[in-house]
Amino acid sequence: MSKFSPTTFRTSLMLEDVAVLCGAQGNKFLLSNENKLVQVWWPASVDKIFPSTNKTYKTETNKMRKMLPNFIKPEALQRYVPIMDVVTQQHFANGWDGKEEVVTYELTRNFAFSLACKIFVSIDDLELARYLSVPFKNIVAGIISIPIDLPGTPFRRGINASNFLRKELVAIVKKRKIDLDEGKATPTQDILSHLILFRDKNGMFLEEHDIADKILALLIGGHDTAISTTAFIVKYLAELPEIYNGVYEEQMEIAKSKAPGELLKWEDLSKMKYSWKVACEVLRLVPPVQGTFREAISDFMYNGDSIPKGWKLYWSANSTHKNHEFFPEPEKFDPSRFEGNGPAPYTFVPFGGGPHLCPGKEYARLEILVFMHHLVRRFKWEKVIPDEHIVFNPMPSPAKGLPIRIYPHKI
Ligand code: HEM
Repeated sequence: MSKFSPTTFRTSLMLEDVAVLCGAQGNKFLLSNENKLVQVWWPASVDKIFPSTNKTYKTETNKMRKMLPNFIKPEALQRYVPIMDVVTQQHFANGWDGKEEVVTYELTRNFAFSLACKIFVSIDDLELARYLSVPFKNIVAGIISIPIDLPGTPFRRGINASNFLRKELVAIVKKRKIDLDEGKATPTQDILSHLILFRDKNGMFLEEHDIADKILALLIGGHDTAISTTAFIVKYLAELPEIYNGVYEEQMEIAKSKAPGELLKWEDLSKMKYSWKVACEVLRLVPPVQGTFREAISDFMYNGDSIPKGWKLYWSANSTHKNHEFFPEPEKFDPSRFEGNGPAPYTFVPFGGGPHLCPGKEYARLEILVFMHHLVRRFKWEKVIPDEHIVFNPMPSPAKGLPIRIYPHKI
């Protein structure tokens, strides 16, 4: 923006000519003109990593979007809160308790993935979840890579990982079908059962590999972003003791209101107002999704520039999140920005906006808050590497995974 223009400029991204639209106006334009002037566009690498012949990643996510509301609407989510609590407690017991030093990013990866496995496909087995989580890293890195299909390239690793996971997921689908027949699984227990029993308008069931593809898309969207967010929460709470104290006090207040062993409920999470402002400030400073692409579906003018049909366009969360016009002293960590009415429309966009607004936003809020609750209740911590770099692959992550020294609270 400072080199070319604060509003619109042309550049090359993912081997394409791209018009980058900046600021709240650019975000609003791209996010609210879906199917009028623009449509979602994914780089060619995406369809090669998900090589369904008659489908694309885009159509898969569109279909997922239509099915998701039943599973991740607020009413449905309420019953997930106690399950999230149990999975999170297990995660801390297995990954953090008794350790002096941990690598945050590895742990937040285990956490977000085992939770997604539990909620979406009822996988309880932590070992199985860990085994499946490794190839996901390669898929995500492969999607946003230069599509050179040679051994050792991130792109080839992404394709291999996707093939491997689709096979594993097909096996999980087959097993669930048997469990449903034998009454060991229920039709409403999770999205996997729903997809298996779903009939299209011609009364046909989905093919097994089709179900596997949908679950794959959901698991990717549903956990990678949370790994990054929870890891950066750990980073900022280590750096900012007064913010840590605010979160700690709020969470202890809630903890004290519970009977021993009583699990968190939806109402408890609605009391975590300060903690959520802290999480929002983390999402502002380090948005997991930096921005996404659109494609022009007709010729149009934008801000005096002509955009021809077929051109790719890009919106970036950072063009507003780090802009002092909307967030004074943008590098300062200040959760009070989210008080009252909060940021102006289309300036705080970690979950996008318009018709493609992230359908997992509420799920993400719950998992992040449950994580923060158990994190601060159990520990204080300090960073091992004072100025660790942040790398983007494509989610932001600390270069060395954010190793921290942890100090359990004395009870
Ligand atoms: C901190 C967590 C999350 C962040 C920051 C995030 C961010 C985003 C963003 C920015 C988009 C819009 C992309 C666009 O407009 O091109 C999006 C879409 C999407 N997200 Fe999330 N997301 C998160 C968690 C989740 C979770 C937990 C799920 C699933 C349970 C999920 C599922 C999806 C799906 C399926 C889409 C595609 C929607 C569509 O194209 O209509 N996300 N997400």
